[in-house]
Amino acid sequence: MNFNITLLPGDGIGPEIIAETVTVLETIAGKYGHTFNFTELLMGGCSIDKYGSSLTDETLADCQSADAVLLGAVGGPKWDDPKAKDRPERGLLALRKGLGVFANLRPVKVHPALVDSSPLKPEKLQGVDILVIRELTGGLYFGWPKGRDVKDGRERAVDTLEYYDYEIRRVMELAFSLAKGRKKKVTSVDKANVLESSRLWRQIAVQVGAENPDIELEHTLVDTASMRLITGPAWMDVIVTENMFGDILTDEASVLAGSMGMLPSASLGAGKNGLYEPIHGSAPDIAGKGIANPIGTILSSAMMLRHSFGLETEAAAIENAVDATITAGARTADLGGMLTTKQMTAEIINKL
Ligand code: IPM
Ligand code: MG
Repeated sequence: MNFNITLLPGDGIGPEIIAETVTVLETIAGKYGHTFNFTELLMGGCSIDKYGSSLTDETLADCQSADAVLLGAVGGPKWDDPKAKDRPERGLLALRKGLGVFANLRPVKVHPALVDSSPLKPEKLQGVDILVIRELTGGLYFGWPKGRDVKDGRERAVDTLEYYDYEIRRVMELAFSLAKGRKKKVTSVDKANVLESSRLWRQIAVQVGAENPDIELEHTLVDTASMRLITGPAWMDVIVTENMFGDILTDEASVLAGSMGMLPSASLGAGKNGLYEPIHGSAPDIAGKGIANPIGTILSSAMMLRHSFGLETEAAAIENAVDATITAGARTADLGGMLTTKQMTAEIINKL
């Protein structure tokens, strides 16, 4: 089969991990007889530098017409001025919105050989296999009004946590449908004891739960959820939550897996076109050194094969190769090892 993939390497370690992931995809293409056509474009800080905009209209249009978008990471100290008109992160948010990818799937699995890389006790990590579904195009990130002004002689800043019923329903329905292929349990995370938006969130969770009686639904407040992720993570299966709650909880959950560098994500909307990116950032401190862990991006490309292209066998081949590589003891610096990005990727390709 033939697929068009737009690559957005972005900033920091982004270009290094995307280049290596492309070699994995090319190996898959050769082995299974597919053609992947790559178009590489700028997005984030590099796009501000070149075009004066973190996401140009042309780049967004190209991403919208591609079969899938594979992204490295954006941001860095160079573009961190709080007064700047544009920021790398704005481009990423505009891309998510422009692609309509309202659900961000972040699987968190603990590889048995990596339990010692996590600061948690090994017995807590036994059997951890969580799928966090983060709402991605609404909530606190996008609600209106938003901005700064001066009111009553005081400087003021406003962000709004806003949700429409349909925005909650579509991500909730996806959570329930994905739970059917897993342990048939959904944990809906909110702050319904304080926030009006969370009370609507919970109301819709209950409605969708009633339509899916085969799935167990539980509600957890976000503060409790953050504690239980550390004290009893094996108790969770599918978690569905608001945009910012999901942002925070998935960084926390990455500690379970031993390193942020391990975790992939898939952002999906109504169509087949998805956005795939590791959950980690651009890691400016190690950019250019060739030592970043490529696994989060390589596993994101596996999610792309599965969710956007329907290539389940090929996706599983990548995931199994990563598993086997970790089992064999290959480690980049974030996992306490010595392998470079290229060496780690070569080990994975060897096992494909
Ligand atoms: C993430 C990142 C982004 C987010 C940033 C870079 C805007 O932290 O994908 O989790 O907050 O969504
Ligand atoms: Mg984040």
